[in-house]
Amino acid sequence: MADSKVGIVTGAASGMGMALAKHFAAQGWRLALWDVNTKVGEELARELGPNTFFVQCDVSSYDSQARAYLATWQKFGRIDALLANAGIVERSSIFIFKYRSNKVEDVPPAPNLACTDVDWKGVLYGVQLAIHFMRHNPGKPGGKIVVTASNAAIHPHASYPEYNGAKAAVVQLVRGVAEVLKIKENILINCVCPGIVHTSIMPPEMVAAVSAESLTPLDTITRAYAGCLADDDTRSGVILECSGTQISDIEHERLTFKNGVPSVRSVTVWDPLFKQIHGEPSELPSAIL
Ligand SMILES: NC(=O)c1ccc[n+]([C@@H]2O[C@H](COP(=O)([O-])OP(=O)(O)OC[C@H]3O[C@@H](n4cnc5c(N)ncnc54)[C@H](O)[C@@H]3O)[C@@H](O)[C@H]2O)c1
Repeated sequence: MADSKVGIVTGAASGMGMALAKHFAAQGWRLALWDVNTKVGEELARELGPNTFFVQCDVSSYDSQARAYLATWQKFGRIDALLANAGIVERSSIFIFKYRSNKVEDVPPAPNLACTDVDWKGVLYGVQLAIHFMRHNPGKPGGKIVVTASNAAIHPHASYPEYNGAKAAVVQLVRGVAEVLKIKENILINCVCPGIVHTSIMPPEMVAAVSAESLTPLDTITRAYAGCLADDDTRSGVILECSGTQISDIEHERLTFKNGVPSVRSVTVWDPLFKQIHGEPSELPSAIL
């Protein structure tokens, strides 16, 4: 087991994270199970045996993630994969319907942006820290990252406006960093976008209201992750719609530019600017020097 792969599963104490933990533990991976739910996380680590351990981690805090990365590194001495899966939905309503009768000077309170902190900032923190730790992997530096976004990242719906935005941000992060991480860090990063999965994030009444064929089994999510994390899988920047039993690469459905070259140029890397922000050139073949 000493040379088996090491993975971090965030949000491991429930739903998809728990399913991912069980799947990869059964495949012989050594796993760090991160969650805010210590009781269930520790129970799961006991159930899965000595190659797994639980780390209490709030992914919305950089310091908490840094401590959890260090604990994982100290335990296993390498980190091959980050399964950045933890997520919540919004905690307050941007529509502020209940404040409709407020007087104009009676300004509603600021929104609770915990969803942005967990689903968006948590992924940014996790990716940056993964880059740092994966650089130190003995043998060959590098690794793999898979992030759980949502179909709502691509097709936003009115129930969760903040969540739509946080998950869309995650999709664009994956698309935006994939090429540089592959070339410069030997890190592959991909994104899984589930449909409706029967987990504790979903109200049971909503699950009951959905027809069976519109539910996505946990197995579809673990298959999507397993595909990305397979040794022979070299994809990066891929966005996978996971719906029902179907896993579809939706990258080819990227919007086309309506105004051709001038629009393409606006998002082509100009290396002096890249260097100004990041301290060295991008090394992208498409970059303008
Ligand atoms: N269930 C669905 O239908 C569905 C659909 C699309 C996307 N997703 C996404 O899938 C991922 C997994 O969700 P799930 O459905 O398994 O939900 P879940 O509620 O069953 O599990 C989420 C886990 O994340 C943990 N968590 C929450 N905040 C955390 C934090 N700050 N730090 C660390 N852990 C934290 C929770 O304790 C829980 O164990 C989420 O990113 C979610 O947004 C879910």
